[in-house]
Amino acid sequence: MRYFTSVKDLGNLQGALKEALEVKANKFAYQHLGKNRTLLMIFFNSSLRTRLSTQKAAMNLGMNVMVLDVNQGAWKLETERGVIMDGDKPEHLLEAIPVMGCYCDIIGVRAFATFENKEDDYSEKIINQFIKYSGRPVFSMEAATGHPLQAFADMITIEENKKKARPKVVLTWAPHPRALPQAVPNSFAQWAVEAGYEVVITHPKGYELSPEFTKGAVIEYDQDKAFEGADFIYAKNWAAFEDANYGKILSTDRSWTVDERKMALTDDAFFMHCLPVRRNMIVTDEVIESEKSIVIEEAANREISAETVLKRMLESL
Ligand code: CP
Repeated sequence: MRYFTSVKDLGNLQGALKEALEVKANKFAYQHLGKNRTLLMIFFNSSLRTRLSTQKAAMNLGMNVMVLDVNQGAWKLETERGVIMDGDKPEHLLEAIPVMGCYCDIIGVRAFATFENKEDDYSEKIINQFIKYSGRPVFSMEAATGHPLQAFADMITIEENKKKARPKVVLTWAPHPRALPQAVPNSFAQWAVEAGYEVVITHPKGYELSPEFTKGAVIEYDQDKAFEGADFIYAKNWAAFEDANYGKILSTDRSWTVDERKMALTDDAFFMHCLPVRRNMIVTDEVIESEKSIVIEEAANREISAETVLKRMLESL
């Protein structure tokens, strides 16, 4: 596997989930693959889980790891071609990318949506330049429209906890004080449909996600109704996708916060969130601290999703 930006890059998802569980059972069995290989992780945005879990995954595989925080300690990067560079950005991405490629074997990139231009965000302008110009295998550590390493970890977690062959999985919007990208909900919806689950998405009107990612899911605007009989509740905030309001906050209605009353409507559902989470905005203290909360397991599985992806990339070098 040379690139990983979408569920489609894995080929058969069931096969990848099986492989991930094999990796989890024996995390250090593939150290020979990474010997004398270097991973470069490039962050345009902050991270706790992705940074640590991906680094740990690479170390499990015997790799060397370098991390570059583009906005801290590196030259500020211009990303637009044709710009007269007389401002505060002394280096262009078009030189920086091939230079970075000289020093490593695989590149991971985190570059969120900026909400400045929907077309730029949804064409994945930044990560696609790394794919085009680095000369190296590239994987997403959360790009503008997707967070595949998170979704892969989410699917592993559901597979490990599900009690039915086809669980009902509900993705619910919840309030947040800042405008957040659609990457996590896009990927979660797409991967959950691909995994064969019954997928319901609930949100206030105006928060419809791109149909490209939600095909096969049911949209239910009544959150209580959506929760009925659910086996997994996946909470997440996202800003509006529709053209007129792209990147805007349309609601901070805290009646959408996931609480014990709503969880009682479910079929004893597990609670999931990718983290970081704003308590008592997205979810109450009681729900996230309950025994049905699997947010820490989910975060732990980030190491496994990253290791499975890196293993496949190393095998193709
Ligand atoms: N879930 C996730 O990607 O966490 P970080 O932003 O901390 O990496």
